[in-house]
Amino acid sequence: MNDLIMHNLVQLISTHTGIQIREQDYKDFCNKISSRMKILKLNTPEQYYQLLLNINKVQSVSYRENDSINEWKELLLLLTIGETYFFRDRGQINLIKNKILPELIAKKRNFYNTNKDKKPWLKIWSAGCSSGEEPYSLAIMVKELIPDLIDWNILILGTDINPKSIEKAQQGIYDLWSFRQGEPQIQKQYFHQQKMRWEVDGQIRKLVKFRCMNLFQEAFPNQLSELQNIDAIICRNVFIYFNSAAIATVLEKFYQTLNPGGYLIAGHTELHGQNLGQLQPKIFPESVVYQRSENLQIASNSGINSSASKLLLKSDSAQENTSIKQKSVLNLNSSKNVALNKTQTQERSLSQTPATETAYQSLLKQAEIFFHSGEYARAIQAAKQVIQQQPKHFDAYFLTAQAWANLGDSEQAIQYCQQALQLDNLSEKPYYLLAHIAEEKGDKEQAKALFKKIIYLTPSSIGAYLEISSIYAKEGDIVRAKKNAKHCLGVT
Ligand SMILES: C[S@@+](CC[C@H](N)C(=O)[O-])C[C@H]1O[C@@H](n2cnc3c(N)ncnc32)[C@H](O)[C@@H]1O
Repeated sequence: MNDLIMHNLVQLISTHTGIQIREQDYKDFCNKISSRMKILKLNTPEQYYQLLLNINKVQSVSYRENDSINEWKELLLLLTIGETYFFRDRGQINLIKNKILPELIAKKRNFYNTNKDKKPWLKIWSAGCSSGEEPYSLAIMVKELIPDLIDWNILILGTDINPKSIEKAQQGIYDLWSFRQGEPQIQKQYFHQQKMRWEVDGQIRKLVKFRCMNLFQEAFPNQLSELQNIDAIICRNVFIYFNSAAIATVLEKFYQTLNPGGYLIAGHTELHGQNLGQLQPKIFPESVVYQRSENLQIASNSGINSSASKLLLKSDSAQENTSIKQKSVLNLNSSKNVALNKTQTQERSLSQTPATETAYQSLLKQAEIFFHSGEYARAIQAAKQVIQQQPKHFDAYFLTAQAWANLGDSEQAIQYCQQALQLDNLSEKPYYLLAHIAEEKGDKEQAKALFKKIIYLTPSSIGAYLEISSIYAKEGDIVRAKKNAKHCLGVT
């Protein structure tokens, strides 16, 4: 295949799907195109290019448009890998199950408690869901977290560019391989065995809806479809195929489709060094996730210094916006004063408490509440008071580190992690945070070294093995990626 036709094909695929064919993959790509040409009995790559190009034409001379659509389906099967399984990535699954979903559910409950005539909505989107294991896993988690499911409107949407994957997802029947990281109890409870295959139970199935879509080409949010007011988007192991421009395009659309306070969860390291637009990284020991800001949207690092910043008070969701119509924009000077006055009042009342063990414990609790409600500057203030009273309080240092990380000040976060480690150098948590910061900064070597340290401290740290495996895979070192992934199987 000559350079020009190779360039044209690579360009066309990128424009149509966002998928990037890297130079080192050109040989493999050539083989795939040749195999398609053979099946279609086409003589030249130019003919194949024309066939693909016809997708944009209403009428074509040599091929019908349908042929083009069908060929794109076949080609996409060769260009993407639909590898997936239930409850993939334990660390991220635990984060979703124990932190992200409970936070979203509690928020919805609070909001709808004051609007009793309406059922709360919870909308989760598994974008690039392949054969459906991910959205069904999400549905099982939601079912377990919401006992009064009947009083809720739940939608878990699974989408993928590959129609064959969506067909399989809709069937909802899986073999044992899809359960390779799952808990046998979950399999027993939510699936029905048919010989060596398992079918998703109806109570889970009815929470999930599938459809075929191209994330890069389709316009969203879309007021005429479900693709609006989403609470969490899980898009894992999809951006790996995209070029940076395509990632930025899709991230902007995701941002607009999320409710304020909503989360985007991507695969580890997939968004490192990418333009995140307005999404805010939030660092948890298990993973970095990205959030659309909610109440205190502060543009500066610490949120207190930038005079250009605006403080936005937003309602719980766009859908809820329309019902409460409450949105005010205050300029930072006045809002800063409000925030500081509140903090000072808080500080005064907190510092009046005697410095007994219970006093600093309640201070720490307060700091944790601030932290979990996204008020990081106030969390830091409260944690600092704990440190004043208890200069060797590991949790206070670590919480401060996490809060600085979430405010985007990695230097402060690193400093507090190091102080926490001086107090307890056997704790994995600061190492995880340091490793994620290193990954965020694109320092893969440092990140790997830190994850190795975690494994050294706790040899059963599956999360750390998976993180290292994912970094090696990103670097194209498949041997080491597999070796580390295999360790996980060994330690489970
Ligand atoms: C490796 S699977 C990931 C499945 C699941 N998210 C997981 O992590 O287990 C990647 C999926 O992304 C889909 N994909 C690739 N490009 C896409 C696009 N432009 N729009 C929608 N889906 C796409 C592929 O068809 C494939 O099923």
